[in-house]
Amino acid sequence: MNNHVSPVDLADHEPTVEERMAGVSDTTRSALVSTMLTPRFYTTDFEEMDKIHVEPVRAEWDVLIAQMKSDPNRGHFKRNEQWDDIDIDALPDDLREEFIDFLVSSLTSEFSGCVLYKEMKRRGKNQEICELFGYMSRDESRHAGFINDALKEFGIGVNMGFLAKAKKYTFFKPKFIYYATYLSEKIGYARYITIYRHLEKHPDKRFHPIFKWFREWCNDEFSHGEAFSLIIRSDKRLMEGMNKYWIKFFLLAVFATMYVRDHMRPAFHKGLGVDIDDYDMKVFRLTSEISRQCFPLVLDLDNPALHEGFRRMERINRRVMAADAKGGLSGKIAKGFWSAAAAVNFIRMYAIPTKSNTIPATSRLQPVW
Ligand SMILES: [Fe+2]
Ligand SMILES: [Fe+2]
Repeated sequence: MNNHVSPVDLADHEPTVEERMAGVSDTTRSALVSTMLTPRFYTTDFEEMDKIHVEPVRAEWDVLIAQMKSDPNRGHFKRNEQWDDIDIDALPDDLREEFIDFLVSSLTSEFSGCVLYKEMKRRGKNQEICELFGYMSRDESRHAGFINDALKEFGIGVNMGFLAKAKKYTFFKPKFIYYATYLSEKIGYARYITIYRHLEKHPDKRFHPIFKWFREWCNDEFSHGEAFSLIIRSDKRLMEGMNKYWIKFFLLAVFATMYVRDHMRPAFHKGLGVDIDDYDMKVFRLTSEISRQCFPLVLDLDNPALHEGFRRMERINRRVMAADAKGGLSGKIAKGFWSAAAAVNFIRMYAIPTKSNTIPATSRLQPVW
């Protein structure tokens, strides 16, 4: 039992943000920061979610659930002789800082999935959906825990219990959860497998042992994405009509966020020997290809205007950050201006035509990349 009592625990009122922050480490604090670009925590309408009806996708659903139940990665998230000790202080300063930022942001999104799935399992009444979310929260909890162990080795673990309580939750309607989570699972797969394959070819660039765990890891994310694909396919309306506009919105938002966020970590990508533009486009193409299983459209990734849109978004983001760092009234005004420019740029990107896609007869894909 942990007998340590922090000043926060002794407060006889709902602690203020400042009081809460005083009791936590810098790493937990950075995981708590909410901006447009940091991974968020979500909540939804659980009653509405109970109405998912898997009968139209029954055959594929049963196969997927049986596979998740068999828990193929049960023993994977443990350190073994493959885990070489590294001296974090031996890494160049910029690389160390960005790598830690990468770990904290990955942990936050893994843990955010864990919390959301667990909540769905706890509050749902639809047995089949609860079973699925139980398996997925099991996986995400392992992923988050594994990253946290890596951080703890550097003496900077994140207090996840605190994070779950203190982080702001964004409410999303179930259908938005399906689109956003589907995409984040699939893009997570694409990111991890692309890094893993790259490091297979260039093992000298593997500056931390955690990358060795990425292959089995991303197979979990792949299965989670498969589950959301089946949920989307179980209700035709989610792939038609006005919802096509939402799908386009989420595709663009998720890709643009990744592009901007990755460009904020030049030393990390240089350390891996990865060109950020190449890497991001590879990941977008793979995610886009996979998303044909349940999305009636894909972004036109060959259109130079779209590339320019991503690049412009990145430049604008630098301005927003500079204005934010400057502070004061002029900083505020500049931030407002550049945030509006980001919105305008997003609308311009949204206006670029997409390619339509015929949904295949079956959803099932294998993680063969
Ligand atoms: Fe995960
Ligand atoms: Fe996942």
